[in-house]
Amino acid sequence: MDKLIIKGGRQLKGSVRISGAKNAVLPIMAATILCPGDHRIDNVPSLRDVSTMGRLLEHIGYDVEADGSCAVIRSNGQNVTDAPYELVKTMRASVVVLGPLLARYGRARVSLPGGCAIGARPINMHLMALEKMGAKITLEEGYVVAEAKRLKGADIMFDIPTVTGTENVLMAASIADGVTRIENAAREPEVIDLADALVSMGAKIEGAGEGIITVEGVEGLKPLDYSVIPDRIEAGTFMAAVAMTKGDVILENCRVDHLDSIVDKLRSSGVEFSDEKEGLRVKMNRRPLSQNIRTMPYPGFPTDMQAQLMALMSIAEGTSVITESIFENRFMHVAEIKRFGADITIEGSTATIRGVRSLKGAPVMATDLRASASLVIGGLGAVGETTIDRIYHLDRGYESIETKLTALGADINRSKG
Ligand code: EPU
Repeated sequence: MDKLIIKGGRQLKGSVRISGAKNAVLPIMAATILCPGDHRIDNVPSLRDVSTMGRLLEHIGYDVEADGSCAVIRSNGQNVTDAPYELVKTMRASVVVLGPLLARYGRARVSLPGGCAIGARPINMHLMALEKMGAKITLEEGYVVAEAKRLKGADIMFDIPTVTGTENVLMAASIADGVTRIENAAREPEVIDLADALVSMGAKIEGAGEGIITVEGVEGLKPLDYSVIPDRIEAGTFMAAVAMTKGDVILENCRVDHLDSIVDKLRSSGVEFSDEKEGLRVKMNRRPLSQNIRTMPYPGFPTDMQAQLMALMSIAEGTSVITESIFENRFMHVAEIKRFGADITIEGSTATIRGVRSLKGAPVMATDLRASASLVIGGLGAVGETTIDRIYHLDRGYESIETKLTALGADINRSKG
């Protein structure tokens, strides 16, 4: 298994280009199921999750070609409506093929994604919504089997906003018969990006980014030609790394309007931000000030940035309190960050972080994608050497992370194993 070896204590300096958003490109790739033809997607990051979605589409009956950051996807007429366990188990986001497969072919058989390191992560709300749209759903040997001759528009109310649940309904409703109204819809930028991509295909969607989305089903869509938004979580991760190393870095291709809650916390901890011709300049000159953070659905502070901010707060002046309110088990990184000498205690869904002056390099183990990012941030700030094991988690969601960090002056190397 590959490892990352970091010699900490180097300031990050220079410019880095933010890649396309993982959580936007995955549902947008799934949206190509909705109509035949040659689809083109730009600003596609080169990530393991993107290759997994490519393999899933190939399994379903698509040819997927990647050329740099452009992906061309075309149907080869096979039309298998099955998403097997082997692919779904490696990537929960595979569940976003359920809505489009069912809407287009009248049938879908998708492996239940099951729990993962960060929590149980059920898909009951996805299924409830599709049932309301007229699907007959059964669970057979670990698979969701959904059938409907043609889905019908419906009024759907989510108990809590679900990102991929909203995305499944958006795609299914785009070619359903009649109007679908989604209340308490997720408002994340990735949901808006999917809606924009669908609208560019001819879908009639209003209200994406607001709590209520209305979709008027159309008879058919046209192929996609779309460029995905930059990854706000990758941008936020670099911001935290710059703050950790008292660096000075320009983030190119960054949508700062998607980063308000992250920028707010970092700014009050002492990070300086300024707009430059080339992008957003992020600069830190001091020991960070402690912050209290509660993760919330967008536009609140994202759960996908909780671990990275915790790594930063571990060296803050003062005590920080971080509450995780989205996933029940997203503190797996705590035990690892403590190996750097951090002083953190957990009680239920709240972590109390008493800032220490400095961290010391240590052998640590990645447990999930964002936890891995927090360990990279810890390692960059720590004195001495850090080895991060199981970094395959990192490759799922961060494009060329060690190349990008090396270009900014970090001492980081991959040891193949
Ligand atoms: N939930 C249910 N039932 C459902 C669906 C969700 O109870 O049917 C619960 C979840 O267990 C969770 C909450 O609702 O407590 C919100 O989960 P959501 O459905 O919004 O999460 P998701 O769609 O599975 C996406 C991202 C995650 C990100 C979350 C929250 C993608 C592919 N994944 O997951 O990204 O953490 O939204 O913002 O978009 C990551 O990139 O590292 C990652 C985990």
